[in-house]
Amino acid sequence: MKYLFLNHKMNMTSIEIVEYLEKLKKIDFKNTELSIFPSYIYIPYFFGKNVTYGAQNVSVYQEGPYTGDVSAKQLKSLEAKYCLVGHSERRYVFDEWDEDINEKIVRLQENNIIPVLCIGERKKENRETVLEKQLKIGLKDIDLDNIIIAYEPVYSIGTGIVLENVEIEGIIRFIKNYIEVTFGKSLPVLYGGSVDEKNISRLSKISNIDGFLLGKSSLDLEKVKLILESIN
Ligand code: PGA
Repeated sequence: MKYLFLNHKMNMTSIEIVEYLEKLKKIDFKNTELSIFPSYIYIPYFFGKNVTYGAQNVSVYQEGPYTGDVSAKQLKSLEAKYCLVGHSERRYVFDEWDEDINEKIVRLQENNIIPVLCIGERKKENRETVLEKQLKIGLKDIDLDNIIIAYEPVYSIGTGIVLENVEIEGIIRFIKNYIEVTFGKSLPVLYGGSVDEKNISRLSKISNIDGFLLGKSSLDLEKVKLILESIN
């Protein structure tokens, strides 16, 4: 079973999301754990529908006077199954630190929401150092029984630049190995960054990938359908 996570980022109007949900009903997910990550405000639209969903972010706080934030407890009350943490847009546009991300993972686990920890380097030159730091601090003192890693090189997000299969395979091996050696657990690792209906057939050949995180192509369900066919 592979994961296919659809990160809508800050896209779609309320009318578009209703249409999206209508179209989604007709799609066969096959043997894939397909999950949608809409903007917070659309999460109630998914409640009770026949698809799993999650949030793109969560507050470090439990509850209280934090204007504009959304808590893990609130997400749980709408039955969110997953939540992204540490997406590069949160890290670099909103200045989130590994320590914040670690705290968010704790909040999610307190509420039985599965964290999807996003990691990725901005430059190839210091790749291993960056990934190790993001994993070391992000996963510090965390229960690793139910957590997913999403590897997304920052220079691949939204750029159309996708690394060769051997390189991606090597990085995924490095990440899995680091987690096993450091924390004694094996975790699923997804790949993301400019994945689309054209490159998915070659990316699906990477043997150690557990699934994909889509940004731009997740907005078009015709593309999602083609991607589903390729990974199954
Ligand atoms: P992209 O985004 O597919 O548009 O490159 C991926 C992501 O940021 O999760």
